[in-house]
Amino acid sequence: MRDAHPNAIYLKDYQQPDYWIEHTELTFELSDDHTLVTARLDIVRNSQRPASGCLTLQGQELELLSVALDGNELSVGEYQQDDESLTLQGLAERHQLTIRNRIYPQHNTALEGLYQSGNMYCTQCEAEGFRRITYYLDRPDVMSVFTTHVIADGERYPVLLSNGNPVAEQQLPDGRKKSSWHDPHKKPAYLFALVAGDLQVKQDTFTTMSGRQVTLKIFVEPQNIDKTDYALDALKRSMKWDEQSYGREYDLDIFMIVAVDDFNMGAMENKGLNIFNSSCVLANPATATDAAYQRIEAIVAHEYFHNWSGNRVTCRDWFQLSLKEGFTVFRDASFSADMNSATVKRIEDARLMRTVQFAEDAGPMAHPVQPDSFIEISNFYTVTIYEKGSEVVGMQRKILGAEGFRNGADLYFDRHDGQAVTIYDFTKAMEDANGVDLTLFKRWYKQAGTPQIQVSSDYDQARQQLQLTLTQRCPDTPGQSDKLPMWIPVQLGLLDSQGQDMAIQVEPASAWTAASQVLHLTEAEQTFVFHGVTERPVISFLRDFSAPVKVEFEQSRDELLFLLQHDSDGFNRWDAGQRLMLGWINDAMAGQFALDEAAVSVFRALLRDASLDPAMVTYLLSLPSEAYIAEFSADIDPQAIHQARQQVREALAAALTSEMAATYQRLQSDQPYAPQPQQMSARALKNLALGYWASQSAEGLQQAQQQFAAADNMTDQMAALQALIHSGERSLAQHYLDRFYQQWHNDVLVVNQWLSVQAGSAELASVEFVESLLQHEAFDWRNPNKVRAVIGAFAGQALCHFHATDGQGYRLLADAVIRLNGSNPQIAARLLGPLTKWKRLVPQYGGLMKAELQRIMAQPDLSKDVYEVVSKSLV
Ligand code: TRP
Ligand code: ZN
Repeated sequence: MRDAHPNAIYLKDYQQPDYWIEHTELTFELSDDHTLVTARLDIVRNSQRPASGCLTLQGQELELLSVALDGNELSVGEYQQDDESLTLQGLAERHQLTIRNRIYPQHNTALEGLYQSGNMYCTQCEAEGFRRITYYLDRPDVMSVFTTHVIADGERYPVLLSNGNPVAEQQLPDGRKKSSWHDPHKKPAYLFALVAGDLQVKQDTFTTMSGRQVTLKIFVEPQNIDKTDYALDALKRSMKWDEQSYGREYDLDIFMIVAVDDFNMGAMENKGLNIFNSSCVLANPATATDAAYQRIEAIVAHEYFHNWSGNRVTCRDWFQLSLKEGFTVFRDASFSADMNSATVKRIEDARLMRTVQFAEDAGPMAHPVQPDSFIEISNFYTVTIYEKGSEVVGMQRKILGAEGFRNGADLYFDRHDGQAVTIYDFTKAMEDANGVDLTLFKRWYKQAGTPQIQVSSDYDQARQQLQLTLTQRCPDTPGQSDKLPMWIPVQLGLLDSQGQDMAIQVEPASAWTAASQVLHLTEAEQTFVFHGVTERPVISFLRDFSAPVKVEFEQSRDELLFLLQHDSDGFNRWDAGQRLMLGWINDAMAGQFALDEAAVSVFRALLRDASLDPAMVTYLLSLPSEAYIAEFSADIDPQAIHQARQQVREALAAALTSEMAATYQRLQSDQPYAPQPQQMSARALKNLALGYWASQSAEGLQQAQQQFAAADNMTDQMAALQALIHSGERSLAQHYLDRFYQQWHNDVLVVNQWLSVQAGSAELASVEFVESLLQHEAFDWRNPNKVRAVIGAFAGQALCHFHATDGQGYRLLADAVIRLNGSNPQIAARLLGPLTKWKRLVPQYGGLMKAELQRIMAQPDLSKDVYEVVSKSLV
């Protein structure tokens, strides 16, 4: 630990700074030994604050060379300096402050601030990385106009980039090259970026809705130039979509994307210069799966959409992180829904919420969408801030309707353009544009935990009435108990015996929005009466996953099967199927599972139903994952879950083998590969069918080998490899894994997929085996993608091995955390996720997990990042 007990920072302590920085002029001189940074800051007193004359700038791991005020160099006694700051006193209204310091990017393994990735230099400043570049007011409410000069050896670093528009380029007398950039839009330091390298560029243009031409450039290392087409296409579609859906136009002459191999997260929305983890931007058919293409489309859109939701309108402080992230995830989800299938996108999002976010909400790191405090902000880039934050925006759209929501978004952007604001400025714009009061709704931002709705129904044939009684409660979370009821929009339908939606009239009428079929649950308990219900309906509850809640509702297996076949809401068709399968898995855990013929024939019919989107059928026929099942269990027994799921999978595969073979044959295609929705959808079902088929018959296994050899695209080749691994034919799988590595060992991104399918597989990933992967030439502890591919996949997917009964899986994870704590604290803290859930497991496992957390806690020099997660988990 840097200090014995790192301090928490509280939202309630927020104050504006005493000075603003109007203009920031930065000069970087890059050389092999060090980088010299000169910062010229035009500071001006904040008239809203008392005249303290005092300015404290943040700085970390900086070698200070000089400080000058209005051109006069200060002596050492004229400022105060410590490990984390630089303070000046006795300041007047305005000054020009010039600071010179040295940094060492080549030794930066934390990948925050300026660092080297391969042969290039790049930056990552969000959230608090800019302070590792120079002394600054490194907080998002300080917005400044930036001018940047980058000087480097022109031979080795011909490409020198920063934010905004390029303004000058010159050859210096000493042979170095200098590029200058100016960004006219004021921005916080976390959006600053710099790149230097020998990069190739793929270029295009986009004409905005007002007719301005924007240059688009994607910069990559030379070997990746054939992997840029899709991201460029996704970028143009994103730009068009944001104009059409939100009226938002791009605002610089140039928009650049750079791909780097070493990156802590997915990508970063630096103004005009997005930096991407190469795994989230590079693709060609031979090396990227359909899933990778969809991820790239979503992340390119996400970062582009931040230009408005995040950059033009930014966050006042980091407690408002979800203001930009929740809203931007909501925007990218809507984009993906429009580009592909909206139902499938909704299913994927609900799956993520139920497996990962609900687990976070039920664990020691549970926090509200607007947290009250944190120790290390990097730990708060969570599924709660991102995905639950998006759900909370989506519920406002359900409540206000599409048009009302758009009006609110327009008002928000217009009112706050150029400002650093709070989550309540967003809800206020929604309120003002619609004349509604969202006071009650705003509890979603402040109360952590997943609300649970209990449903009971009572049908009265004589009166043709259905009574629905709903109760809600939200469990205690760290630091929060006795929660208040939330405003929960419950989308719902009633199916008649033909499977048709019945017309709905509800009492109280004020709780019902007919246009969106939404029931508004706002109290702890409410009873709703439906009139004119001519026969006993089957209730389709929480359609479209209209709120991020858990539902307790007893419905018979016949009813679930009926919904699976007939519900007009695709999401609830899927959900009914999952509930049915969860029932089977629970039966299997109780030792009394038998597959019933009625259900099998429904699944068989779904497979044959050519009117359904094949991607939808894929989801309907996929068993819930072990993590999903765990979230629906009270005391988690990972080995029991694994066994039970295997048993059900085996039975289903056996019952459907011939249907799966036929489906596979039907979906074979000789069209050339394209990452296009219909094709991707057909491949998903084809490959699901292959997996089931290959697990049951020699013929299927043969087909998988043939597909592996013949595939001209990574989706089919990887699916074949996975089918071979899951077949349990170990030496056959090993043979194809070796072939795969021989074929692809020169392609980093493919090798990472190869590491990940092995480390995440129940068939292969024993602790010993994963340790051998860590020794492999393809593994590198310094690269976050590789750490995620092996350690992340092992602890997140190979649950039967991670939860080995001797605790060796936990030991392996803890060793990795201890090792990375010093070199890359962000990654170390992120890996901890699975261990923090120890209280949810049956004691046999929980105790061993806790012991590993205690071992980590006892290490000297814990980073703030790891300290926060471990100490909170042990409370
Ligand atoms: N703002 C980035 C996003 O779009 C998140 C991000 C990228 C990030 N790199 C980071 C957050 C490093 C913390 C640290 O989601
Ligand atoms: Zn984001």
